Amino acid sequence: MTSASRKKLRAAVMVSGRGSNLQALLDAASAPDYPASIDLVVSNVPNVQALERAEKAGIRTEVVPHRDFDSRETFEREISAVLESASPDLICQAGFMRILTPWFIERWDAQLINIHPSLLPAFPGLKTHERALEAGVRLHGCTVHLVHTEVDSGPILGQAAVPVMPDDDANSLAERVLQAEHLLYPTCLKLIGEGKIQIGSDDARLAANLCDGTQVLLNPDAV
Ligand code: GRF
Repeated sequence: MTSASRKKLRAAVMVSGRGSNLQALLDAASAPDYPASIDLVVSNVPNVQALERAEKAGIRTEVVPHRDFDSRETFEREISAVLESASPDLICQAGFMRILTPWFIERWDAQLINIHPSLLPAFPGLKTHERALEAGVRLHGCTVHLVHTEVDSGPILGQAAVPVMPDDDANSLAERVLQAEHLLYPTCLKLIGEGKIQIGSDDARLAANLCDGTQVLLNPDAV
């Protein structure tokens, strides 16, 4: 099948705030030969910048405010029904700030991915940049992974690393990692759309060698 005749992967994106990763996905998906389309953006918070970005790109948006529901379960059933209406092949969490129950995660088994601002399994959870600085790591970065029930766990689909500089604070490091996120997420979605990353319930693997395996990333990069 040629890339032109292959059907595009249908993606929905779950957001809660700024939406810079959503923007990176929208920008990538605006290229005619990109193998995925963003069909729906769902936010659990009204009036966030991510919704504006989606509207500007002409993408359908829905808001399911978690505060309007008396339990996590009823909230998740509603958000799930909204997602179902777009028949997505894949759901990308991009700064979606609610912990999801096993019910939701199992409902979307092998279809739910997330981007996390650390090189997992290091630093799951919040304040990843502060913790990376505290730990003194010399390389930090971000991970796209399949969502499993334990927070920030699940098979790794892709990672990008950045150096930690001597004068970094959490903000400067966060900014450098965010630039890497904006490259990594669209790349992973592209590779999934092309069938080069294959996703199973407990497994995500590269279907092909995408690099020659000889590169070494050094920090410090002394010669
Ligand atoms: C990103 O750092 C992402 O890794 C994390 O939340 C942040 C969302 O930023 N899960 P944005 O809304 O995409 O700008």
